[in-house]
Formats: sequence, C-alpha cells, structure tokens
Amino acid sequence: MGDMTTGHAAGLAELRAEFPVLAQSVNGAPLAYLDNAATTQMPLAVLEAVQRFDRHDRANIHRGVHTLSQRATDAFEQARADLLRYVGGGAEHELVFTSGATESLNLVARGLTTAGISDASVRAGDEIIVSALEHHANLVPWQQAARRCGAQLRILRPDAQGRLQVDDLARLLSGRTRVFAVTACANATGERPPYEALLACAAEAGALTVLDAAQAVSHEVPDLSALACDFMAFSSHKMYGPMGSGALAGRRAALERLEPLRYGGDMVSWVGSTEAGFAELPARLEGGTPNVAAAVGMAAAAAYIDRVGRARIDAHLMALRRQAVAGLAAIAGLTVLSPQAQHSAIVSFVAEGVHPHDVGTLLDARGIAVRTGLHCAHPLLEHLGHGPTTRASFALYNTHDEVERLVAGVAHALEVLR
Ligand code: ALA
Repeated sequence: MGDMTTGHAAGLAELRAEFPVLAQSVNGAPLAYLDNAATTQMPLAVLEAVQRFDRHDRANIHRGVHTLSQRATDAFEQARADLLRYVGGGAEHELVFTSGATESLNLVARGLTTAGISDASVRAGDEIIVSALEHHANLVPWQQAARRCGAQLRILRPDAQGRLQVDDLARLLSGRTRVFAVTACANATGERPPYEALLACAAEAGALTVLDAAQAVSHEVPDLSALACDFMAFSSHKMYGPMGSGALAGRRAALERLEPLRYGGDMVSWVGSTEAGFAELPARLEGGTPNVAAAVGMAAAAAYIDRVGRARIDAHLMALRRQAVAGLAAIAGLTVLSPQAQHSAIVSFVAEGVHPHDVGTLLDARGIAVRTGLHCAHPLLEHLGHGPTTRASFALYNTHDEVERLVAGVAHALEVLR
C-alpha cells in the first residue's frame, strides 16, 4: 500500500482505490472528502462483507433452529468478539451492540439513573460530572438523567486553550460523585484530552467512568484493558463501517448495573402475563432485532483498520493535521482551535468577519467537503468564545494534496468573502 506517513502518491492511490465513493468529481473537481469526523467512507472489504451477509446469510438471530438463522447468529456473535478484542476488551469486559455512540451514551445515562431490574446507581443528591468538551450526545442525556433522578450535573471546564486538566477534575470530585463522562477527542475542536489520567482520577474517587470514543476509534483506539473505564461508546460509521450501528463496550460488572433502554423480544428469559425475567448480558441490553448486517460490516471495518495498521493510520492523520494547522494558521485573521492537539484528525477554525457556511459553500464549489456550524457542541464553542467554525477532518485515505487544496481553498474563500 505504499508509505502513508509521507503521503507517497502511489501508496495512497492504491489505498484510495479501495473506497469507490472517492472516485468522483464534485462541481467539476475531484472530490476531497474532509468530513470524516461526521462520517467516514467504507472500503470494498466492508461493502463486500455486508453484501455477503445480506446475499447469503441474512436471517434473524438467536431465534431460529434453521441453518440461516444459525449462520446469522454466528456472524453476529463473531462480530461482537472481534470488536471487543479490537478495543482491548478482556475476560471482565462485554460488548453490547447499539445503533451508534448516541444510543450507547443514552443507554448508560438512562440505565444508571432508572430503577427497574435493579436499584438506580445514581439518585437524588448524587453528582454527575461531564466534561465541557462533549458532543451533545455525551451531555444532553446526562442533563436529562440528572433532572429525572434529582442528581446534580457538574461541568469540568477546559482552560483558555481548550484543554482539560486533571487537577481541575480532582477539585470537582466529591464523595457524592457517581459518574464522570468524557470524550477521547472533542469533535468540535479536535482537542485530545488526557482521558487516561482523567478516568483514573475519577475511578480512584469511586465514580463510574464513561468514555465517548467516537472520534478516536478509527486510529488511536482506546485500550479498554489499560483504562479505568467502565463504559466506552463508539459508532461504526466513524470507523469506515456502516451507518446505524455502534457499540457500548465496558466492564461486565458495570454493564450489569444498567436498566435496559428497550424491553421486548430477545432480552427476556421468561415472560408471564404481568411480569418477566430478564436475560443475561449482552442480550439483556439488546431488545429487538439488531442491525446484524451493520454489525458484521463494523467488524470488517475493524479488521480493515488493523490490516492497514493503527499506528500507521495515526501517524498519517497527525501529519495531515500538522500540515493543515501550519497552512491555515498562516492565513491572516484565521484562528485554529486546539492547534496543539495530538492524535487528532480534526482541524477546526474561525476566520474574522466571515461566516463558516460561506467558507464551506465556496470549498464545496471546488469539490472540497468540510463541515461548518456548531458541530453539536454549542456550550463548548460558546465557552471558548467562538461561534460556528469550519471543520476539516481527515481519514486514512486523505492526501497531502487534498490538504493543500483545503488551505488554498480557504485562502481563496476569505479573499472573496472579505
Ligand atoms: N458527530 C458528528 C460530527 O461531529 C456528526 O460531525
């Protein structure tokens, strides 16, 4: 596949050929797809795995004695085992399939604060700490959960550079803290917090710990076994897999504490007219028919990432980001957020006197896809004193030429708009 880390053209061309969607022109220019923090594209290996399942093995799982149902069940359970291994899960861990990181985080927030099969783990008077770097998916569920159960929500604010500090968390933690939730990489700024130390600090104080790994799981994959992490949420479509699938991995003992989000088929052990008994993990948290094809595709995506090489992908993404930060920061009146961030594939910026939507529209006219707006992180951008930003985000198939086109396109947009 050639040398990704130096952007060797032949190697990357070979790799890009595995992603059919990239081979197109948009508005008369070759597509430069730089919106990977929102959704990554799928390689042939994933497309084919999904199609193979749908063409050959498609059936409902866990319920049939017939051959296709058994094949589908085997494929689903194999995907679970592969993905748990991918995130470093050991014997004490389990993985539950969800529709994505948002559902995973809702499952944790609701599941810890609702009494049902067991007592709620968070109650009136307890405290929940959430970092201020979070996507709304790791904030709003906690706001609602705190309201519902009468807990207090406390926010771990970043410093002026947008960085989280372990000392600040240590000061916020108290004997009443039951949960600490943090991202592995902020989707709006690209900041990569010291989540290993933050989780350890919260766990030491007796809190359950939650990691939103959606933006990290495609390159600098958090290692469950090395972390003081009870719950880790991630999405398939941000790791070269299908949409509509994701996972909640974590300590089995912590997952046991969650009240299910969905009651129904496949999550019960027996059902009477007026009450029911519930299945063991992971089925207990997977009521209803899951997206089996997407789970199979997600596991194929993890295998694909490992075939290319996590460290190699991470190094390539860091090189792209360094180039983008240097090029963009040299443009007058432009500010890059979290320029210092490491292991991040996201570069977010604001330009004086120019609305990001206009920048994004002019970039699109040159075939360059970026995201503009508040990135579902309104409180963070407000806290940092910014409004909407323009965000470019990289994947393993992006090239240094595309970053050059981005920088030139932004410079041109600012000239036109000013
Ligand atoms: N969470 C996705 C993003 O940051 C949608 O763009």
